[in-house]
Amino acid sequence: MKITLIVGSPRKNKSCNYLIDQAIEGIKSINNNFDINKIQISDYKITPCNGCDQCLRPPNDCPLAENDEIKKIEELILESSAILIAAPNYFGSVSSQIKVLIDRSRPWKMKDYLLKDVIFAPLASTGLRNGGEGVISDLINFALIQGMIIVGNILGSPILEGNIPITSLQKYNLKEFINLGKGEHDELAGKISFHLGKRVAELLLKINN
Ligand SMILES: Cc1cc2nc3c(=O)[nH]c(=O)nc-3n(C[C@H](O)[C@H](O)[C@H](O)COP(=O)(O)O)c2cc1C
Repeated sequence: MKITLIVGSPRKNKSCNYLIDQAIEGIKSINNNFDINKIQISDYKITPCNGCDQCLRPPNDCPLAENDEIKKIEELILESSAILIAAPNYFGSVSSQIKVLIDRSRPWKMKDYLLKDVIFAPLASTGLRNGGEGVISDLINFALIQGMIIVGNILGSPILEGNIPITSLQKYNLKEFINLGKGEHDELAGKISFHLGKRVAELLLKINN
């Protein structure tokens, strides 16, 4: 079973990457036989949707796909049993790179819901302590509109531990804002991401049994 994890920041080795790596460890803790694909969204040249609506008409293809790299990412995504996306908080929403991917996923919906029943889990990274919820809700809306199955977390104490994987650079004070990415991490967000990866793997095994 293929699991695709997308680092949705244009920055490759920062917070979103950390969350995705933790989720991968969580997946591996359940079973080492998953076919895990980690994608850096910024490695793909994807043109923004221009609203031509050609995907509404059979054969529901996007003309932009002839001149960019959406097909490369599409191949991986459409073969996946589960998809996890970690996106940074840019003004309360996902990064433009992830928004472009979401908009360009419209043909997959128009071809009769190619992502139907694929498991989906959202993760977010944010500068300030609060504010990642908008990112999580953008990702959840994408998954709901595509007919996917959204996975929530059930981690430890429901009072003491969070269940939405949002990392913040402002964990202690602005010192961390500078130092994260240089070896310091938000441990709780990492733990939640690990558990979310675990949950995705457990559910995949359950559904496919
Ligand atoms: C264009 C832009 C807009 C941002 N807007 C916000 C914001 O509204 N609130 C916030 O807390 N952080 C904001 N940030 C900070 C990022 O969310 C934060 O640096 C995040 O950790 C980036 O993820 P990364 O480390 O994986 O690149 C913004 C960053 C950029 C570049």
